[in-house]
Amino acid sequence: MSESPDNDPVIISVAAYSTNPIAYEEKYATHLLDRPNCFASLLSPGSQILDLGCGPGRDIRIFSEGGHKPIGIELNPEFIEMARRQGDVIQGDIRNISSIFTPSSFDGVWAQASLVHLEKLEIDLVLQDLRDLLKPNGLLYACVPATGETGWLDESDGRRWYTTWPEDSFEIAVRTTGFHVTDVTHGPYVEVWATKA
Ligand SMILES: C[S@@+](CC[C@H](N)C(=O)[O-])C[C@H]1O[C@@H](n2cnc3c(N)ncnc32)[C@H](O)[C@@H]1O
Repeated sequence: MSESPDNDPVIISVAAYSTNPIAYEEKYATHLLDRPNCFASLLSPGSQILDLGCGPGRDIRIFSEGGHKPIGIELNPEFIEMARRQGDVIQGDIRNISSIFTPSSFDGVWAQASLVHLEKLEIDLVLQDLRDLLKPNGLLYACVPATGETGWLDESDGRRWYTTWPEDSFEIAVRTTGFHVTDVTHGPYVEVWATKA
């Protein structure tokens, strides 16, 4: 586990997005676009949605336009500035969400590729926090890498840590935390849709 910011995989990985945040926004502008639209359609109008690791804020805009009340949490300062043009964003670490929000605050938690830089034990703890932050029957969408090695990846814009979840390990982790898994898609990423059991 991480002891100081200098060797914390999350801090190092999040910093890499500052190399070219606009390029990230453009690259992912239409990526898996049907997912946030589907998520928005499954919730009652005016739902409170937590957008974990909201990046430049594309999905905050989609949820607002869908009639909901999203709030993002993000650590990268450039992404925070960009996402705040779309709605409310808190500067904070996903690993501390239980001290930022009160239990049963959200109708939905959206975690699109946002747990990817946490270590496995941290993700297990965050899943428990997400369960507690959701209202009864609240909806969770989480998408994490399913292929490749867990470890450091040197990418053209910087170094990032990725935790990967082979086979059915992620859906098992979600179910074990106390969610009812309603749908799973396997590919390079595993996408899990679940409700608070
Ligand atoms: C792969 S990007 C995904 C961004 C956005 N959800 C999307 O789908 O385009 C991962 C995002 O999570 C943020 N992030 C990663 N770990 C975080 C943490 N512990 N606390 C807050 N934000 C975090 C990163 O800064 C980055 O914006």
